[in-house]
Amino acid sequence: MDASDRWKRAAALRAVELVESGMLVGLGTGSTARHFIADLGARLSAGELGDVRAVPSSEESERQALALGIPIVDLPAEGLDLAVDGMDEVTDELDAIKGLGGALTREKIVASAARRFVLIGDDRKRVARLGERAPLPVEVVRFGVNRTRALLRELGAEPELRGGAQTPAVTDNGNLIVDLRFDGPFDAAAVAEALAAVPGVVEHGLFLGMAERAFIAGEAGVTELVAPSS
Ligand code: A5P
Repeated sequence: MDASDRWKRAAALRAVELVESGMLVGLGTGSTARHFIADLGARLSAGELGDVRAVPSSEESERQALALGIPIVDLPAEGLDLAVDGMDEVTDELDAIKGLGGALTREKIVASAARRFVLIGDDRKRVARLGERAPLPVEVVRFGVNRTRALLRELGAEPELRGGAQTPAVTDNGNLIVDLRFDGPFDAAAVAEALAAVPGVVEHGLFLGMAERAFIAGEAGVTELVAPSS
């Protein structure tokens, strides 16, 4: 395990401590969420936790959870107790960009259904403003994708079809991903609102005001950040 992987695991272990027996838990997607799922599975098989059921945010996370014997259920109407996921960028206010792994739509459905949404990651994901390093992923339907990209360009970003036109990346929902790169700082709340109004956009990777806390690990250990509104 390299340093970055050790940090991801350290952050995941702090989040697993929030899981209690009987909980319905949302499982994130990606290399950090993978540690959370692995540790959750280990605690369940060790008998340290019981009667936990989970809702995965991707087919990949579902496969991992099933292999570990974590009971999987459909997302119930009443929502979830807790959801834990990684991120691509996070600010000190806990606004985040997600979706480099392509699972942003299910991740947002799961995160927004949870009474507590917790982010985990290593400290290379911390940024002063969103978009500093990561593109902003947007899931779009295939139909009319060129027109949708033209509308996205009007938001002031360069819209790149993930995987390219010949071999586009396809999400678990059968849709495509357009990665938006802005030239400089942008107003995340205004962009989120504008994206929601573009026909053909299924979901975007801005997770604003959703996380209750974040565990961010690095050389100096795990830092816990709490959302301003919590
Ligand atoms: C998946 O679509 C993403 O939102 C991931 O949660 C995010 O990219 C973090 O992934 P890593 O933990 O692999 O960095």
